[in-house]
Amino acid sequence: MRVLLTGGAGYIGAHTALALVEAGHDVLVVDDMSNSSPESISRVQALTEAAIPLLEADVRAFVAVRDFVRRHGPVDAIIHLAGLKAVGESVADPVRYYDVNIGTSVAVLQLMAAESIPTLVFSSSATVYGEPEILPLREDSRTGIKLANPYGKTKRIVEELLADAAHADARLRVTALRYFNPVGAHASGLIGEDPSGTPNNLMPYVAQVAVGRLDRVGIFGDDYPTPDGTGQRDYIHVMDLAAGHVAAVENARQGFDIYNLGTGIPVSVRELISAFERASGRSIPTEVLPRREGDVPSSFCDPRKALDSWGWSARRTIDDACVDSWRWQSRNPNGYADRP
Ligand code: NAD
Ligand code: WQD
Repeated sequence: MRVLLTGGAGYIGAHTALALVEAGHDVLVVDDMSNSSPESISRVQALTEAAIPLLEADVRAFVAVRDFVRRHGPVDAIIHLAGLKAVGESVADPVRYYDVNIGTSVAVLQLMAAESIPTLVFSSSATVYGEPEILPLREDSRTGIKLANPYGKTKRIVEELLADAAHADARLRVTALRYFNPVGAHASGLIGEDPSGTPNNLMPYVAQVAVGRLDRVGIFGDDYPTPDGTGQRDYIHVMDLAAGHVAAVENARQGFDIYNLGTGIPVSVRELISAFERASGRSIPTEVLPRREGDVPSSFCDPRKALDSWGWSARRTIDDACVDSWRWQSRNPNGYADRP
């Protein structure tokens, strides 16, 4: 298949591009580089020896994207990863988040209609569930419970938009993937997560402390009702997540469907930090801070639907993710600014 990745130069996009090429597919990328660099795609090309056409443009630049698709097509499927993802920023600037996250999704649906592209895979998020009522979270668990941040709301709205679009046009095959917490890097150490500024997420923060860019990790609360008092999450290795995208495009069915992509295994903040200490051989100083507003005590999924439907499951452990994240971070302490 020939697959267009929007946001393909970003963290999850670059790993997904690599997995698609390795599975024998052709890849094209549209990315405006607002949170990434073309260096990620250069490295994927170097690793795979594949040519990956790249258009540096906003997904909403309709004519430019359509002409790019016509030049390099026909395209069989789109994986729509482009969007803004910082929860705190979305609270401070909600209009920008609704504009970009919903606007790019509308543009993708219009492109599919104009160019007769039947298949879409969308980057949704476990955030749509809000505060879990019952764990593990299943695809039919209630969503939106105490969901206060605009970022998560944009993901819920786009899921509804996609369901309506698939209902209206029986040719469409649309899949929303609810990612749990993506971590780790490709085993080559050549591509990985390169957040701009101070990381918001735990794993890249821990990695930057291990490499000496930051002093210590603040643990946001150690009085949660969890075994060690720190928050639990379902951390999924980004290469397992990438394989989930390959499975989703290869098994796309008519209509609209939703899949959780996670491991099903809860890991606490302290457990993740210990795993990173083992992987890096470095001691990671910590400091207990108050709880972070909006955090839930525990979130992890039931990943059986993807296993039953596609035979996909996460294979890598949190230790694998820490080893790969450390390889990436120690070889590229300044991310893609460090040339190999
Ligand atoms: P990322 O920021 O690394 O990748 C997103 C990419 O989209 C970036 O390369 C950015 O430059 C590009 N982009 C943004 N706006 C664009 C626009 N208007 N036109 C073209 N390109 C644009 O983030 P990521 O972690 O790779 O996330 C990819 C997707 O997965 C996002 O939609 C995100 O919301 C979703 N997601 C991420 C996580 C996570 O923790 N990383 C979890 C759940 C869902
Ligand atoms: C994980 C755990 C924190 C940082 C976020 C988004 C979600 C999704 C993934 C896009 C929590 C604790 C964190 C730190 C800490 N993104 N923590 N110190 O909050 O589960 O999910 O990223 O869709 O939408 O909300 O991930 O990595 O920020 O936090 O103690 O410096 O680590 O309290 O328990 P989260 P996270």
